[in-house]
Amino acid sequence: METIVCKISETAEQVWLKEAGEILAAGGLVGIPTETVYGLAANALDAEAAAKIYAAKGRPSDNPLIVHISDISMLEGLVSEIPDTARKLAEKFWPGPLTMIFPKSDVVPYGTTGGLDTVAVRMPSHPVARKLIGTTGIVLAAPSANTSGRPSPTRAEHVYEDLNGKIDMILDDGPVGIGIESTIVDVSGDVPMILRPGYITREMMMEVVGEVCVDPAILNENKDKNFRPKAPGMKYKHYAPKGDLTLVSGTSEKVVEKIRELASEKLAAGFRVGIIATEETKALYAMAGPQAVSPVVMSIGTRKDENTITHNLYDILRRMDGENVSYIYSESFGEGSRGQAIMNRLLKAAGHQQIYV
Ligand code: TXA
Ligand code: MG
Repeated sequence: METIVCKISETAEQVWLKEAGEILAAGGLVGIPTETVYGLAANALDAEAAAKIYAAKGRPSDNPLIVHISDISMLEGLVSEIPDTARKLAEKFWPGPLTMIFPKSDVVPYGTTGGLDTVAVRMPSHPVARKLIGTTGIVLAAPSANTSGRPSPTRAEHVYEDLNGKIDMILDDGPVGIGIESTIVDVSGDVPMILRPGYITREMMMEVVGEVCVDPAILNENKDKNFRPKAPGMKYKHYAPKGDLTLVSGTSEKVVEKIRELASEKLAAGFRVGIIATEETKALYAMAGPQAVSPVVMSIGTRKDENTITHNLYDILRRMDGENVSYIYSESFGEGSRGQAIMNRLLKAAGHQQIYV
């Protein structure tokens, strides 16, 4: 089966709504844009439809899906309890890139929650996702629409690249805005706990609910194997490009110097090399190996605006794949308010290879 790609900008709203709605009602799969990344959507209350998501992505069956709603009234049926902190966070950040974990109600199948008694719920702000959920009344289980282990998709082309022939339809609304996945917070305890850092920062949540903590497993990732992340998906290698990625951290000047050194070694050995730079530094990597072969230098964005970095992160990892580079060296981005979220993704992509200078 060839996947139908429907460009939102060229299609009447009632047409794409009807086609996508029919597919979802029949238990099929539709790639949809959200404000964070593209999602692979199916009816969250249909265990068979959810099973198709796992099959299409090649996703381990213990890795639960996020359920997407378009109105707060939809939350009540899905969960057995709504803590006060959740109400406050929902009021402030929904619709938007925040996912909360609740005790599930009986209507949510274990096939959607990976066997857990909790369910992750988020209300996306993207107009296409909202319209689709609101019009069909179908709550949508939607993980990121990539093959398991690959970088998350920020453009419809990425979804097509990974899932063509495995899903029924893709709604193409161009590149997404944010570019990294939602923040996940567990609201079941006294103090909300961040299970996955994302666009909504700890500081933003603390302004609304006071204390907020971070799953120690996120901070200790790969340093201590005794920490098991509370979001099952966080334990898997993820987002990896095909080339061998290493992050270089330290003061800007030393980072540039180290990356130049590493890149020229590999160029001299005859490898194709990629460099993830910024607008501020990209010109500093002009160099050539033997036979005048240069590294592939890509700017991820500007340090003056962190949003440019999240926006381009996954796209750049995929573009590096397209360049067939064997080694990739990247600058680090830990300092801004979303530094933790950015470094969490990049470190996973690098299999935690990091050099300090
Ligand atoms: O921005 C996003 O959240 C995107 C868009 C499409 O909405 N979705 C997304 O889904 O990133 P996915 O499946 O790629 O990541 C879901 C994460 C996984 O790490 C999973 O383990 C965790 O959420 N998760 C889901 N349900 C959970 C639960 N009940 N308890 C703990 N973690 C949960
Ligand atoms: Mg994912």
